[in-house]
Amino acid sequence: MSVPIVAVYSLKGGVGKTTLAVNLAWAAARAGRRTLLWDLDGQAAASWLLGHDEGGEKAEAAIRKEIDPARLVVPTAVDGLELLPADSSLRDLDVIFRDLDKKKRLAKMAEALSAKRDLVVIDCPPGLTDTSEQVLRAASLVVVPVIPAPLAKRALDAVAEHVSGRKAFEAPLLPVFSMVDRRRVAHREALAAEPDWPAIPMASMFEAMSHRRAPLGAFTSARSPGVQAVAQVWNRVERVLAK
Ligand SMILES: Nc1ncnc2c1ncn2[C@@H]1O[C@H](COP(=O)(O)OP(=O)(O)OP(=O)(O)O)[C@@H](O)[C@H]1O
Ligand SMILES: [Mg+2]
Repeated sequence: MSVPIVAVYSLKGGVGKTTLAVNLAWAAARAGRRTLLWDLDGQAAASWLLGHDEGGEKAEAAIRKEIDPARLVVPTAVDGLELLPADSSLRDLDVIFRDLDKKKRLAKMAEALSAKRDLVVIDCPPGLTDTSEQVLRAASLVVVPVIPAPLAKRALDAVAEHVSGRKAFEAPLLPVFSMVDRRRVAHREALAAEPDWPAIPMASMFEAMSHRRAPLGAFTSARSPGVQAVAQVWNRVERVLAK
């Protein structure tokens, strides 16, 4: 069986993709999966959160096959979790993919990177672009953070419509409510409308990740609401992948 490729993706920016990707990768590693987090966003936020300091501009060359991406993989402070870091050379990734004109480039890279690993998690840049086309083709599961607001839901619907009926995009979408504030009526209503979607609460502990430069679970009690919520999302991911 091939190694699952889990993409954390949304059309929208700032919805919690990177935060969730890093925490899911941590949960997977904790569950004993040899996990690779692939940072595909030129902002390199996931790389930052995992304590990596940018060194060189090599990420683009790996996409272009000028260097082997496996050579860019670095260990992290988390046992069982490795990182394929991003850097600012990925700023124009859409242009790179358009130039290359190889629809399966990312899928093939992901497959090669999955050797001797149990899971690959991709942190994606926002947008419905050449990059997301590549990601949607490569993924076995697409996790979509959705802030419980009408616009975020519309972004999810746009992705669902884009992938529906297209053979190249067979991966299921797993929506996850992100930055949920149960004091707000609109959030409570959105959650009630989709009771099956897992939910990540809005909490300052998630923001603290960028000061600690570590996944939430690495510095917070396993009983904290944030870590528990991440565990629930990871359980759901495992169940969907098992199908
Ligand atoms: N559950 C949460 N509670 C509180 N703050 C959060 C939560 N999730 C993410 N944040 C904060 O929201 C901001 C955006 O999160 P994040 O970078 O994960 O989003 P993103 O979708 O990856 O953004 P981008 O589209 O720019 O890549 C960050 O400052 C992050 O710390
Ligand atoms: Mg991000």
